Amino acid sequence: MSDNKAFYVTTPLYYANDELHIGHAFSTLAADIVSRYHRSMGHQVHFLTGSDEHGQKVEQAARSKGLSPLEHTDCLVKKFKSLWELLDITYDDFIRTTEDRHKKVVTELLQKLYQKGDIYAANYNGWYCTPCERFWTEKEVPEKTCPDCKRAVQEIEEKNYFFKMSAYQQALIDYINHHPGFIRPENRRNEVLGFLRQPLGDLCISRPKSRLSWGIELPFDTEYVTYVWFDALTNYISAVGYPFDMEKFKKLWPANFHIIGKDILTTHAVYWTTMLMAADLPLPEAIFAHGWWVTGEGKMSKSVGNIINPRELVAKFGLDPFRFYLFREMVFGMDASYTEENFINRYNADLANDYGNLCQRTLPMIVKNREGLFHKKEATLPQSMEIAKMAGEIKADYIKAMNDMLFHEALKRTWDLIQRLNKYIDETAPWKLAKEQNYEILDEVFYTIGEGIRFVTHLVEPFMPHLAPEFLKQIGDSNGFVKIPDLQWGQLKDRTRVTSEPVPLFPRLETERIQNLKKGTKPAEKDEKKTEKQAEKAAPISEDGLVSFDEFLKTELCIATIETAEKVENADKLLKLTVSLGEEKRTLVAGIAAFYNPDQLPGRQVVMVKNLKPAKIRGIVSHGMILAAATPDGGLALVTPDKPAKTGIRVK
Ligand code: ME8
Ligand code: MG
Repeated sequence: MSDNKAFYVTTPLYYANDELHIGHAFSTLAADIVSRYHRSMGHQVHFLTGSDEHGQKVEQAARSKGLSPLEHTDCLVKKFKSLWELLDITYDDFIRTTEDRHKKVVTELLQKLYQKGDIYAANYNGWYCTPCERFWTEKEVPEKTCPDCKRAVQEIEEKNYFFKMSAYQQALIDYINHHPGFIRPENRRNEVLGFLRQPLGDLCISRPKSRLSWGIELPFDTEYVTYVWFDALTNYISAVGYPFDMEKFKKLWPANFHIIGKDILTTHAVYWTTMLMAADLPLPEAIFAHGWWVTGEGKMSKSVGNIINPRELVAKFGLDPFRFYLFREMVFGMDASYTEENFINRYNADLANDYGNLCQRTLPMIVKNREGLFHKKEATLPQSMEIAKMAGEIKADYIKAMNDMLFHEALKRTWDLIQRLNKYIDETAPWKLAKEQNYEILDEVFYTIGEGIRFVTHLVEPFMPHLAPEFLKQIGDSNGFVKIPDLQWGQLKDRTRVTSEPVPLFPRLETERIQNLKKGTKPAEKDEKKTEKQAEKAAPISEDGLVSFDEFLKTELCIATIETAEKVENADKLLKLTVSLGEEKRTLVAGIAAFYNPDQLPGRQVVMVKNLKPAKIRGIVSHGMILAAATPDGGLALVTPDKPAKTGIRVK
């Protein structure tokens, strides 16, 4: 990015008619994470969010509470801001469409387009949906209900003002075709191009005051206020100086990213872009429309009553795990479904077992054997060298993914390194090295792990800005965060001293079900033994012994290909397996050592329970379970596909 142009990112301006839920929190967190990332890249950042306060929805919400519209929005804006504070959103500016600085720009823009002839008056006859604040044509509403919200529409005939959107249709199509990254992801771009295959009408941008007075008055006709979308979209330029502070404006515009949900793609990709064309302004670099957070009953909405409140989740699980979960779980662009169970699984697997455990497994050993000190060593083990090299590659992939706002991808790559480090601990067995007093190698191993923790923590920081510094503290790195471009393997200083008593930063979460199962067994120390027995234990079933199809589907079975197998020390029955699921690799411990030789297994395909909660068995994190059945002669048979199947594919 050039020195003069800052990275400018926006969220939608949320309607100040109701409280916000995790869907809204998600868009704003996306902008926060991308802002923190760009700051860590050394870029100047301008992050804008705000509130959409005019229009019928807001007016009606206010009236139903017996408040004036502004009293009502003042109150909601306070709530918005307090939620952003809770989520530690680092926005630079919050714009309200009721502010003068915004209203005068809308007026200016209307005047400009009116004078240019791009806004004209005409009689209009159409079907109007009040909740959606939009007109439909006769043809679009055969049932006289809104195609979007299914509520009744009213026929309206009146004079209105129109923006000549149709005049820009071809220019917009050409623009999208020449700028493949303009509308993201790809499927949204195709959706917009599909929409533009139909002739584009002109956009009604006025509302007669007789029907709606809560809006910005048209400068050329005082009987009308501005259509709320024309008003709200203009915030992206009104907040950054257009047209009164062009110096500021040039530094920030065009925006690098408008982050939106897919519900408001057309208004952004078509209305807003043609408005900008008419105003002779450059278009934003990219519009990113992410998918929806859904719960069992579909898209979250107040009327369906399936709202997930971000405050509750933060109170229950903590802010950083909440932030992490949202962005690891949702493939940015696709829909994602929230369930508490799924949250807990991710937390336990990715945070407690993978990331948190790196410290928990290692730091006490360093305290015990090396007086808590890291000794910087040249790498001699091939695995140490491999990890150093891998870190560089992962950083490059991370940057690429983050630049494209592919957060799940960035996290996945970061976790590849975390998982490699955990495997490295298994491979090098530092507890053995300590016993043998092989301090040369032990120091190398500890240093690699410590440096690994420092390295991944840098990549994790935009997502978990509060716990990331705690990780650095635990390894005793007092140098703080370096800018991502300066992050290099080997920067952890010689004789860095770890915290003597590290507390788990991600204590395991136990579901109620697990807690109930536990009653009657002795807690704590029995845990490992108990998970060894897990394979024998049947899943809880209903009283009639039947499970529904949906319940069955909760168990994800898939084809795994065994890559390596080895005996687990001091455990006669256990084999440690690494299996491939195609994209992903897993480590798991299986009680099959009495029946299978380790060298018989690599290359075999087995059926595996994929979404089993990870469990620690003899110090090995086992994630997944393979299926087997007893044979009549007292042996054991692995369940395998009867001809080669695709690795990783789901078994149904
Ligand atoms: O549309 N999943 O405001 P709005 C994911 N004022 N994201 C969701 C979501 C869900 N279930 N629900 C909401 C408006 N969002 C206009 C915008 S912009 C100039 C004017 C997020 O309060 C998502 O970003 O209805 C969606 O586009 C936005 O909230 C809609 O917020
Ligand atoms: Mg909405």
